[in-house]
Amino acid sequence: MKPSDYSQGDAFQAEKQTIFSSGWLPLCADGQLARPGDFVVLTVGGWSVFAVRGKDGVVRVLRNACRHQNMQVIATPSGHCETFRCRFHGWTYDLDGRFVGAPQPVAPRDPQSPDLHLTPLATAVVSGLVFFSMAAPAELPDLGAPPPAYGGTVTMEIACNWKVCVEHLLADQTPSPDFTWTWPLLAICRAGPVTIIEQVVPHTFLRTKLLTHVFGREADDRQTAGTIKYACEHLQIERAAGTPAAASPLVADFHRRLAQG
Ligand code: FES
Repeated sequence: MKPSDYSQGDAFQAEKQTIFSSGWLPLCADGQLARPGDFVVLTVGGWSVFAVRGKDGVVRVLRNACRHQNMQVIATPSGHCETFRCRFHGWTYDLDGRFVGAPQPVAPRDPQSPDLHLTPLATAVVSGLVFFSMAAPAELPDLGAPPPAYGGTVTMEIACNWKVCVEHLLADQTPSPDFTWTWPLLAICRAGPVTIIEQVVPHTFLRTKLLTHVFGREADDRQTAGTIKYACEHLQIERAAGTPAAASPLVADFHRRLAQG
């Protein structure tokens, strides 16, 4: 890995067109969408998307891009609503992403056109997590045994490249029944009745979110997440200066997969 791989927007754009355009990517915990109308918005690998539970109970992932002028429809990271009203000119969509209406001055010529609906993406719910894909590969992600009951999610913003965060999560680990890594963005730790899934969210090339999903007990992991944030922001400076990641089998495997694109 070169220092620019951790610190340049060009590298992130290349990853958006390869890694983040081909496989399944985690978006949130299914438990974050407990009721119809609950939604979670994220930018993952450069794609602005949201997951919402419909009135039929089904979770869908949609592009967060208005069909009027391609602006982001939803600005809040999560919430609950009956419909989505674009904040720019008021085009409105139902929970399935179907166009509902627009104020007269900006109304489309043909309100029945299917081109007016928000773009749906391939969606899968696996082991308590919601995944989406731009390409819908046939094989679903395999997270092993299903986790116990959902307990909550802690979100941390980290000023680092996403690869630094993955390397940090993998550095001191060896594959075992208690620790698994699911390419490219998930680390799963099992400890007796508790399962913790660390979800790395590549927001921009120097901004990463870490979602810590806790199963089997309530989530109170802000201190741990804060420790990871501190370590990753320190490591980001080292990687950008050319200090390589610590040698470990899982980090080596991560780099091998990165090289494959
Ligand atoms: S961009 Fe959404 S209504 Fe105009």
